[in-house]
Amino acid sequence: MKKYKVGVIGATGMVGQRFITLLYNHPWFEIAALAASERSAGKTYEEAVGSRWVMKIDIPENVKKIVVDDASDVEKVASKVDFVFCAVNMKKDEIKALEEKYAKAEVPVISNNSANRFTPDVPMVIPEINDDHLKIINAQKKRLGTKRGFIAVKSNCSIQSYVPALYALDSEFGVKDALVCTYQAISGAGKTFERWPEMVDNVIPYIGGEDEKSEKEPLKIWGKIVGDEIVPATKPNITAQCVRVPVSDGHLAVCFVRFDKKPTKEQIIEKWTSFSGKPQELNLPHAPKQFLHYFDEPGQPATKDTRNIEGGMAISLGGIKEDSQYDYRFVGVSHNTLRGAAGGGVLLAELLCAEGYIEPKE
Ligand SMILES: NC(=O)c1ccc[n+]([C@@H]2O[C@H](COP(=O)([O-])OP(=O)(O)OC[C@H]3O[C@@H](n4cnc5c(N)ncnc54)[C@H](OP(=O)(O)O)[C@@H]3O)[C@@H](O)[C@H]2O)c1
Repeated sequence: MKKYKVGVIGATGMVGQRFITLLYNHPWFEIAALAASERSAGKTYEEAVGSRWVMKIDIPENVKKIVVDDASDVEKVASKVDFVFCAVNMKKDEIKALEEKYAKAEVPVISNNSANRFTPDVPMVIPEINDDHLKIINAQKKRLGTKRGFIAVKSNCSIQSYVPALYALDSEFGVKDALVCTYQAISGAGKTFERWPEMVDNVIPYIGGEDEKSEKEPLKIWGKIVGDEIVPATKPNITAQCVRVPVSDGHLAVCFVRFDKKPTKEQIIEKWTSFSGKPQELNLPHAPKQFLHYFDEPGQPATKDTRNIEGGMAISLGGIKEDSQYDYRFVGVSHNTLRGAAGGGVLLAELLCAEGYIEPKE
């Protein structure tokens, strides 16, 4: 099979580095371009990323000598690739404009950024849940006037630890209200302890914009296509408090939930462990065999013990308890830069290719 040529925009960042490790030896994709800011442009990837490389493996040989492009040179990058992943640290309006430029240059963009998450004809997809939203891409292409270019986004890292768990229960038991507190790793801010020493021995009960994203994004995931847009659902009613904790990788959520029809604990576990979606059906390269793992032991799922399950692509759940104010509470863990960022992006790209939304150029 001929491999798709892919570009990584924001290749020197925390999420960009994850993309590079996930794309190394990928069966369908090969890196054909790396781009970042003008600060990195013109340097080899090895020089540009320098001491910022924080992945556990060394920089793969196949990318070390690639000369980094300026992401704003859209024509140059577009000429090298079939599609791009985008994870950049820029102002929202600049990201929106950049992603649209790539789409208009007929390059599909799989984005980790939040800038386009609420554009009504941009699908925001957790592949196991709302793959049907990809159909909106035709309406988006009409608006953009493109033949093959479009933008598809993945949702925020914080919601991966509880939304799939709630979604798996919703159709039978009706999720009414959820209160969630997330305990989020520092890599979620693109940081390590060396680069963020204030986080050692500290908990910061504020992550800018994150509470709102954690409440609002699930409603778009639960939404429906109406005409040329995705109309967000009006329930479940979610309230969230997001907290930064001194953990390198992995977001943990404690979620309190009220149902229309209260299930038993056994029913919850059964729904979770049997839940699967399109990625499992299509056996996509980065699909976890089992999406939701359940742990019965006290103290699990702990972030460090469970974040890497199934290559960091599965969600770990446990701690189900009946609650005096809500029906139940539970705990979820997901790897924020794998399932929550680059891994989720790669899985979405695999789905888009498998479903024929992205074809190789020649
Ligand atoms: N970290 C996570 O867990 C996570 C999870 C979900 C979503 N995200 C999202 O992913 C995006 C990237 O996050 P990150 O943690 O990887 O950030 P990061 O480590 O700060 O990396 C930022 C990247 O953006 C590039 N960049 C900055 N200004 C630019 C410009 N003007 N033009 C082109 N490229 C520019 C940087 O290139 P230089 O090296 O040249 O400066 C670098 O490659 C953000 O939108 C973030 O919200 C992150």
